[in-house]
Amino acid sequence: MQNRVIINEVGLRDGLQNHPKRLSVKEKQTLYLALRKAGVADFELTSFVSPKAVPAMADAAELVAAIPADPAVHITALVPNRRGYARAREAEMKGVAVVLSATETLNQKNIGMSLQTATDECIAVILAAKQDGIFCRAYIAAACACPYEGRTDQAVVLHLAQKMVDAGADEIALADTIGAGNPAQVERLFGAAVEQFGASRLAAHFHDTRAMGLALSWVALKSGVRKFDASIGGLGGCPFAPGASGNLATEDLALMLEQSGYETGLSLAGLVDAAALAREMLGGQVGGRVLPWYSSDRARKERERGAA
Ligand code: COA
Ligand code: ZN
Repeated sequence: MQNRVIINEVGLRDGLQNHPKRLSVKEKQTLYLALRKAGVADFELTSFVSPKAVPAMADAAELVAAIPADPAVHITALVPNRRGYARAREAEMKGVAVVLSATETLNQKNIGMSLQTATDECIAVILAAKQDGIFCRAYIAAACACPYEGRTDQAVVLHLAQKMVDAGADEIALADTIGAGNPAQVERLFGAAVEQFGASRLAAHFHDTRAMGLALSWVALKSGVRKFDASIGGLGGCPFAPGASGNLATEDLALMLEQSGYETGLSLAGLVDAAALAREMLGGQVGGRVLPWYSSDRARKERERGAA
C-alpha cells in the first residue's frame, strides 16, 4: 500500500489548454484510450472554463460524453467558478477541481477575481460539490512561485489550503504552476503540508520548466505523498502564467517510480506509445526524456537483455 503511487494524467487538460495545435474531440478521445491502454486510471480530462479564455477547452461537455463509462476510472474536470461547476454537473461529472492561486495577481490574471473573491468562489463550489456527493480537489496554484509576485510565502499556501479543507475539499493539490520550485523549498512545503493535512489528502503538481520535476517529485514522495499529476509527453502550460511550460512527463515519472520499487500500475511501453501518439497528433515535438531514450537502439538492446 505504501508503495502504491497514483499518477493523475493531466495532459488532456493542462497539456492541451495552451497548445497552439487544437485537437478534435475524436483525437482527444483516441489519446485518452491510448492512456487507458497504458493503465492510466486517473485523469483530469478537461476544464469547464470560458471558451473565450481557453478555446482549446470549449469542447469539454462533448469530450466527457465521448469517454466510455468505466467504473475503474477516476475523472475530474477543472472548474473556475459556479458556472463551470453547473456545466460539469450537467455533463454528469463525478469529480471536479477548483483552482485558487496563492497570490492576488495570478487570481486576477487567471480567473479575473481577487484572492478573496476566488477563495469565496472556490468555497461555494466545494460546498455545492459536497452536497451533491461530488469529489472535489482544490488546487493551490503558484504554490512555490508566482510569475507576477515572485516567491510564494509558504504560510499563505497552507492558510489557503486550510480554508479549502475546512470547506470540505477532498484533496489539496499543491501546484508549482510555473516550475520554479526547488527541492529544498518543496521539502519544507510538503513536510509542513503533510503535518497539517495528512499525506493522503495531498497531491503534487509539478512542471518541468527548469528540469526540477523529478527531483521535486522525489522530495514530495519522501514526505509521504502518493498522488502526482503528470502529463503525457510533458505537454502543458498555463496561458495566464507566463513562463509556465510543460508538466512533468508521465512516462518520466513512471520510470523513476517503477525503477525505485514503487507501483504505478502503468505500462512504460504503453506510455511511450501514448507519448508518441501525442507527438504525432500535435505535429512536432513533445517533452520528457523517456520517449527518445526508449526508442533508441541502446535501450532496445538493454530491454532485450532484461537490463532496462
Ligand atoms: N464556462 C463557460 N463560460 C463561462 C464560464 C464558465 N465556467 N464562466 C463565465 N462564463 C462566461 C460568461 O457567461 C460570460 O459570457 P458572455 O461574454 O457570453 O456574456 C463570459 O464568460 C464572461 O464572464 P465573466 O463572469 O465576466 O467572467 P470573466 O470574463 O472575468 O472570466 C472566467 C472569468 C473564470 C470564466 C475566465 O477567466 C476563465 O474561464 N478562466 C479560466 C482560466 C484557465 O483555464 N486557466 C488555466 C487553468 S488554471
Ligand atoms: Zn499545471
